[in-house]
Amino acid sequence: MKNILVTGGCGFIGSNFIRYLLSASDFTGRIINVDKLTYAGNPENLAGIAEKFSGRYTFINADICHPEPMSEMFETHEIDTVCHFAAESHVDRSIVEPDDFVKTNILGTFHLLELARKHRMHLFHHVSTDEVYGTLGSDGLFSEATPYDPSSPYSASKAASDHLVRAYHKTYGIPVTVSNCSNNYGPYQFPEKLIPLMILNALEGKPLPVYGDGRNVRDWLYVMDHCRAVWTIMKTGRRGETYNIGGRCEMQNIGVVRMLCDILDEMNPGKASKRELITFVTDRPGHDLRYAIDSGKLEGELNWTPAESFETGIRKTIRWYLDNKGWVERIKTGEYLSWMERQYGVMKMLPTFSKS
Ligand code: NAD
Ligand code: DAU
Repeated sequence: MKNILVTGGCGFIGSNFIRYLLSASDFTGRIINVDKLTYAGNPENLAGIAEKFSGRYTFINADICHPEPMSEMFETHEIDTVCHFAAESHVDRSIVEPDDFVKTNILGTFHLLELARKHRMHLFHHVSTDEVYGTLGSDGLFSEATPYDPSSPYSASKAASDHLVRAYHKTYGIPVTVSNCSNNYGPYQFPEKLIPLMILNALEGKPLPVYGDGRNVRDWLYVMDHCRAVWTIMKTGRRGETYNIGGRCEMQNIGVVRMLCDILDEMNPGKASKRELITFVTDRPGHDLRYAIDSGKLEGELNWTPAESFETGIRKTIRWYLDNKGWVERIKTGEYLSWMERQYGVMKMLPTFSKS
């Protein structure tokens, strides 16, 4: 793996992955980061990286749905490996405006696979989600054999992309690996997702909107543990195989929010407890009740285990948001957006189904 194309590298997980991989002792190649810079893509997430890793890192502002510039880029940079993160990733947005989810997540993946078919690939790694499996009841875990049953336009689009990746392996022999991961949290996460949204709202004394009764369960994983898992799979995973990644860390949403409030009260004390800001709001349509991952295959075959507990990971995450108020501010003002995004005002707020 000499020249790795990372798609969506200016987003939350992609930027953490690039930082991780360029510093990893067992990777000496180059990374070419292709990102469209949607509202979720922030070049500041990789500030200083081009200078620090000069000659090993290139950023290209392009859309994976545009085959011609992408094809040129495969040739110019002699891409031999793809690690595909680029996606529309936020479930609430997919409920309101599903179009871009179908375009980027399904068609974008298709175009990349076509390029991988034309160029000799060492590996095409596809980063996916546990949401493709739908919801669990009060017990059981998702394994790699769990049938797909997506609930939202987001998860349906990711499910379609997973099927395409596996079909290209079976039909054309492209060496692929797929990973389906649970909920990530950590530095650089866009503040529309539960954890950063709650941290930032709490710091500003704004309501903390918990959907429904707050008893939905997610399985949380610190982003660096995800990045290490992806690299482990890329290096040693069996081609054609899928690996589930999870933190064995199930929490009800209300438990997460209360814990955030308590740690914030300790790290950034105010007059009143942050718990007083918790507000129950209308539930998300089609809201999956519970996700929980069995990552036994990844642990047993490839010897991966998460390094962070929720307590240690969440403390690091809160510290990061407290220490990076400039990053937060530039997102709030829209200063981080590309010219085009600013013109079209993609920062518009979502309709209020989820926040009223
Ligand atoms: P994100 O929304 O933070 O980042 C997505 C990135 O993709 C952005 O930089 C965006 O500009 C870029 N992008 C979007 N459309 C593009 C296009 N057409 N062409 C090029 N770039 C484009 O997402 P994230 O949370 O970092 O998630 C990354 C991947 O991991 C996604 O595939 C997601 O489905 C998957 N995943 C996320 C989580 C999670 O908890 N966040 C968990 C499991 C899997
Ligand atoms: O499971 C993996 C998935 O995790 C990824 O594939 C997605 O890209 C990622 O966005 C995430 O999806 P969720 O929908 O689980 O994440 P989100 O942070 O939006 O919500 C987490 C839980 O918190 C969910 O049950 C909905 C709830 N929630 C969310 C928000 C934004 C609230 O109660 N209030 C909120 O304001």
